[in-house]
Amino acid sequence: KQPLTITKLKKMKQSGEPISMLTAYDYPAAKLAEEAGIDVILVGDSLGNVVLGYDTTIPVTLDDMVYHTRAVARGAAHTFIVADLPFMTYHLGKETTLRNAARLLQEGGAHAVKMEGGAEIAEEVAACVRAGIPVMGHIGLTPQSVHQLGGYKVQGKLEAEARQLIDDAKALEAAGAFSIVLELVTEPLAEAITSALTIPTIGIGAGRGCDGQVLVYHDILQYASPYQPKRMVKTYADIGTTIRNAIGSYVKDVKEREFPQQEHAFPMEQEILHNLYG
Ligand code: KIV
Ligand code: NA
Repeated sequence: KQPLTITKLKKMKQSGEPISMLTAYDYPAAKLAEEAGIDVILVGDSLGNVVLGYDTTIPVTLDDMVYHTRAVARGAAHTFIVADLPFMTYHLGKETTLRNAARLLQEGGAHAVKMEGGAEIAEEVAACVRAGIPVMGHIGLTPQSVHQLGGYKVQGKLEAEARQLIDDAKALEAAGAFSIVLELVTEPLAEAITSALTIPTIGIGAGRGCDGQVLVYHDILQYASPYQPKRMVKTYADIGTTIRNAIGSYVKDVKEREFPQQEHAFPMEQEILHNLYG
């Protein structure tokens, strides 16, 4: 099976087939997501929060992204993989942007990159697209700008903000982006943006009107996610509790000498034992 292409993703919008996207940061997660039939895997810089334990995505480096993207690519060789360009790796001029984006494809094995921002990064988007690097946009709540935004809150509630987001989405489409993530925007605004574009929108906390949905692996599985359950997330399993209980049982077995049992140990021939120790 071949990974999806940006052409197929655009066709899915036209035909009304929803696009499923989930984050993954390592081999086992990517493997399971692929086996489950996910359309797109996002190696998000949310790995800073859910895998590396940072408070924000700001400390995540390009080396971190390359390293995790490689692991994901090994686990999901048949799935379309998008990797985030992290904080400040696409703001220092087109040449740097291209060099950085190229690493995610060349070393990481991603098929596309994602960048946060609207009209102000259109030049960077266009440069990547000209170089053959597909770009997914990301507007609304853009976590790399959390300090500029003044916290994690719903975006585009005011008229001027909403207009700006529509303009940003159009600027990204015009620059050649193949898709746009809409994060934490009101449902009606996400619907308006989705119908104003020919490229698919992928929502997270953006309601029912987007062309696809994305969520964070650790959130939907309750896998020790640092966040409280959020309104925008639906949890599908409680892996955290399963893992904690399993490790607890292991600890108890070791303490009580219940593990290992004879069946877990390797025996030796009696005669050799006798010769060795008499
Ligand atoms: O890093 C990430 O996981 C993301 C998604 C939330 C869209 O950018
Ligand atoms: Na991200």
